[in-house]
Amino acid sequence: MTHTHVPFPEGFLWGASTAAHQIEGNNTNSDWWVKEHTAGTHIQEPSLDACDSYHRWREDMDVLAGLGFTDYRFSIEWARIEPAEGRFSRAELAHYRRMVEGAVERGLRPMVTLHHFTVPQWFEERGGFTSEGATELFARYVAACAPVISEGVGHVCTINEPNMIAVMAGQARRGEIGFPPAGLPTPDEETTHAVIAAHHAAVKEVRAINPDIRVGWTVANQVYQALPGAEAVTAAYRHPREDVFIEAARGDDWIGVQSYTRTRIGPDGPIPTADGVERTLTQWEYYPEAVGHALRHTAEVAGPGMPLIVTENGIATDDDQRRIDYYTGALNEVAAALQDGLRVEGYLAWSALDNYEWGSYKPAFGLIGWDPETFERRPKPSATWLGAMGRTRTLPRLAD
Ligand code: BGC
Repeated sequence: MTHTHVPFPEGFLWGASTAAHQIEGNNTNSDWWVKEHTAGTHIQEPSLDACDSYHRWREDMDVLAGLGFTDYRFSIEWARIEPAEGRFSRAELAHYRRMVEGAVERGLRPMVTLHHFTVPQWFEERGGFTSEGATELFARYVAACAPVISEGVGHVCTINEPNMIAVMAGQARRGEIGFPPAGLPTPDEETTHAVIAAHHAAVKEVRAINPDIRVGWTVANQVYQALPGAEAVTAAYRHPREDVFIEAARGDDWIGVQSYTRTRIGPDGPIPTADGVERTLTQWEYYPEAVGHALRHTAEVAGPGMPLIVTENGIATDDDQRRIDYYTGALNEVAAALQDGLRVEGYLAWSALDNYEWGSYKPAFGLIGWDPETFERRPKPSATWLGAMGRTRTLPRLAD
């Protein structure tokens, strides 16, 4: 197969993403830490030390910058910054400020996520996002992050995957454990409204901190594909799980596209992946084309001109060659989207490191592995291969 090369547009973000709870370790004030030590959940093992990135973030950034990446998306942890309601930790704010400065010093532009699934346990106990005053509490936390983000941060993500927050809330409210074999549980409507309100409040706070920061949020795209005749069923299924959150991003500076696989929908709803189809370690169908569909659907719903950034895309596998194959297919889609004139402004792989996949360490999404005893970082061949594109500033494009 012959390759053409598609140059990165000016300023294109090229990086990898992480989330605090999944890599830092010992996030003991968070709701997740409590859940991990509670019986009767789907959680198979607790996060404990994770990758110890709370202490080793310098090494992580050294490796990423050395590989050729120019951007790093990481999240800051509300549970550390506000460990008790109304009590903000200057030491933790200084910690995250050092990370921002450390990234900039290494030539990595930081994209900072303010909320990536975890909340302080005190916030959870008072009822989470749907409780009275929650929007104001979240906005106050965002305002308190000014010392971290006011300088040197080009992009801020307010809330990661609000649609998954609503899905998980719906599941918790109904007392369900685990996900159905296909598709997603019904999102909790009250949570949907609450996280949208929290996002809009956060956007205002970020703009007040520094109007030059480009602020947005990131949506989990499940790439719902209608079987013939199931178009209306698919649209109805998709709207509360995805489109409502993309619509809520209109007026933001960009939107994050996060995709891994697809969900096919028939007249009776989602169809489980057929036997014999290749699956990844998360049991999702191996489908590198997902990101192309996610970009095009997001552009359609968000409206013309909305900048798109792939903020997560990747595969859980122990076979690193399969990871390279997946990224090859995915980047081909990104290049095609660019050639078709979509406003794609960046690509950040999930994930920089093998990390805590919300209940288990087994699904390995990382470009970089690490020694379980010493925490020594071990970049995989896929990391070297992907990072190198940051130097050539071009994407591979398989011939049509
Ligand atoms: C999340 C990540 C997660 C990844 C793979 C996204 O839902 O933002 O935290 O690890 O997908 O499941």
